[in-house]
Amino acid sequence: MVREPVATLDGIGKEAGDEIVQLNLGTFRPYLVTSPDHVQRVLTDSGRFVRAGVFWKPLRRLFGEGSIMSEGATWSSSRRTLQPMFTPRYVGTLADSMADSVAEAVEEMSRRTASGDPIDAATELTKLVSGILIRDFFGDTISMRDADELMAALDTMATAVVIRIMLPVMPDWVPLPGDAALRRVVRTFDALAAPLIRKYSVTPSQGDDILSALCRAWNQDGGRTLPKNWVRDNLVTMFAVGTETAIMALTWFWPALAGHPEVIAKLHEEVTRVTGGDRIRGSHLPDLVYTKMVMQEVLRLYPTGWVFVRTVVEPTVVGDVTLKAGRSVILSPYLTHRLESAFERPLVFDPERFTPERARLRHKFAYMPFGGGQHQCMGMHVFYQEAMLIIAGIMSRFRPALADPAPVTPEVAVTLRPAQQVRLTLTPFEPQGAR
Ligand code: HEM
Repeated sequence: MVREPVATLDGIGKEAGDEIVQLNLGTFRPYLVTSPDHVQRVLTDSGRFVRAGVFWKPLRRLFGEGSIMSEGATWSSSRRTLQPMFTPRYVGTLADSMADSVAEAVEEMSRRTASGDPIDAATELTKLVSGILIRDFFGDTISMRDADELMAALDTMATAVVIRIMLPVMPDWVPLPGDAALRRVVRTFDALAAPLIRKYSVTPSQGDDILSALCRAWNQDGGRTLPKNWVRDNLVTMFAVGTETAIMALTWFWPALAGHPEVIAKLHEEVTRVTGGDRIRGSHLPDLVYTKMVMQEVLRLYPTGWVFVRTVVEPTVVGDVTLKAGRSVILSPYLTHRLESAFERPLVFDPERFTPERARLRHKFAYMPFGGGQHQCMGMHVFYQEAMLIIAGIMSRFRPALADPAPVTPEVAVTLRPAQQVRLTLTPFEPQGAR
């Protein structure tokens, strides 16, 4: 599991099929739950299956105990405070601002690729996604220079923490590779967060941004109920969860298209029809129907949140198995999305699976890249909105192709990442009949 996590996971998934199985990882024996019925049961029974346990420990070194990634009162106060900034309606009001960021980035790509040199997809998408998050959700409270430093730290963390995640019962006092890097990452975040929090707590702004909303709620509470590090933990968590998963999902988009010229042609057709050759705008979003379907299919085969875990609170029967109290339950969109019982020819890349007619016929929990139940991803609308604008922005100007012919394979870090660098050659695309 530690040496070949993706292949091992694939093998376990095939062997388990729809059955609940118990993994034998030495002294650690979590249940693996993959069938949509069972997943639904676990995700929607939040009284019996809680987000706690050894798997979460390594992540909490960065997120702390006081963030939206926890449970109980700390989770609910965080979700209540942040949720208004993530409703489809509010996110919709940011569409034009996001589209402007995308249009600027596409212009810049156009200048830099004029010589035919390829670009590194993850680097470009990191700039774009973290820029959007900072402009539209942090209200420029974090500077772009600090954001670059945080992104570099997060990149280190995504791989540094993975050995601890794979060896969850290893005591903290046993040093593992990646521990020192993780400590440095936490120091980097804390050094940047502390002065920001001091400034905004003393003079809370009325702004619609994450830091201001957290500081206002903290001041209102007056330290009575919220844990000490609540603002810091939520700030760090929101920056981390709002970037890495989205960047990797968008990086997967390009290798997923390789070998599918028909999908690329349909994307070009839709984007040309919708934008009419103009620069991308928020008002184009409702018509980018196929673009969204392709992104959904990319997230089916490469769900960047590839695994998440719950702990059983009391003995609970799921299917015909009694899950014991205190045990961990592993849920994996990666495995559920590859079940033959859930998807016809699951390994074939086919965006047509996401036509409304076909999606309606499917079990609600067969497709769960954003989880489900009360902890369902709060950033889902943000992600689809930015993803559709970015894809359409790029497709409206370029014919993207992979610069390297070798296949791109998955590797697990905190997210499911491409193991190889994804370099893109962007040739100008001149749609016929466009202005
Ligand atoms: C492709 C992109 C993304 C993927 C695949 C993804 C995946 C997930 C998953 C699987 C969960 C559930 C975790 C669990 O049940 O334990 C989750 C939760 C969460 N996500 Fe995302 N996410 C993405 C993007 C974002 C973005 C852009 C944001 C914010 C800007 C965000 C914020 C959150 C938050 C705050 C939670 C915790 C919700 C709660 O527990 O109440 N995510 N995400």
